[in-house]
Amino acid sequence: MAVMYTGGAGRVGTVLRAGLEGRYPEVRLLVMEPGTELLTGETEFVGDLSNLDLLTELCSDVDTIVHLGGIADERSFPLILENNIVGTYNLFEAARRANVRRVIFASSNHAIGFYPSDTKIDNEVLPRPDSYYGVSKAFGETLGRLYHDKWGLEVVNLRIGSFREAPDDVRQLSTWLSHRDAISLVQRAIEAPGVGYQIVYGVSANTRNWWENEAGIKALGWQPLDNAESFADQFAGQTPPEYQGGGYVDPDYTGGLW
Ligand SMILES: NC(=O)c1ccc[n+]([C@@H]2O[C@H](COP(=O)([O-])OP(=O)(O)OC[C@H]3O[C@@H](n4cnc5c(N)ncnc54)[C@H](O)[C@@H]3O)[C@@H](O)[C@H]2O)c1
Repeated sequence: MAVMYTGGAGRVGTVLRAGLEGRYPEVRLLVMEPGTELLTGETEFVGDLSNLDLLTELCSDVDTIVHLGGIADERSFPLILENNIVGTYNLFEAARRANVRRVIFASSNHAIGFYPSDTKIDNEVLPRPDSYYGVSKAFGETLGRLYHDKWGLEVVNLRIGSFREAPDDVRQLSTWLSHRDAISLVQRAIEAPGVGYQIVYGVSANTRNWWENEAGIKALGWQPLDNAESFADQFAGQTPPEYQGGGYVDPDYTGGLW
């Protein structure tokens, strides 16, 4: 069974690949630059999500794609359009053409970042993106719905919170996803039988969680083990943000390089 990662050389991908090393006999990596430190069973292919023909070729005989590739922060709309929206379309379309069984889409809490932080939400609420980046994640989730309903592709959307070794601030006491929980989450997203279409919050078992995640956890048979509360003392003086997306809701927030 071949597993393919897009964006596998990035922050999340590097941790996941190490955590799942040796579990799948063949692992393909789509990377933008050559020189990834390859682990057991891995092969890298240099290319871009803009290349539908290349993606379709790489998807041949692939069982599951872990789609992490794209811009992981706010940027100008043209950059988000090219890398996250068109790139994600190309990925899903290549998966369909090559008869891939399942796509795991790295969505984000920024697809729902305009929900207030005093509100608990589940995986059925309407998107309330806090950025063009968040819009691209809502787009990817909806595109996955189309590919599932129309062509039977299995799709697991992981609305990742804050993937870090440890929480950085009071907001992340609610949104933290530990490395260990991220690895087990993606393992279950790859291996759980018959998942159909799912939206699951990628968040550890935090006492201050804003997201009702029972349905997704059950569908995948996943069990998060870590709880950001053990870091709470470090952020004792901080006030939680008004909105779940934190600083992304600020009209002047421009993310990284524009
Ligand atoms: N890190 C987090 O806390 C977090 C939170 C929510 C969602 N996510 C999502 O998880 C995924 C991985 O995040 P990350 O933190 O590892 O980001 P990252 O920036 O470290 O990695 C993203 C990777 O995508 C690749 N990429 C970008 N554009 C591409 C293109 N056009 N074609 C091919 N590859 C391209 C980059 O080269 C990079 O290796 C992203 O989709 C991000 O939106 C991350």
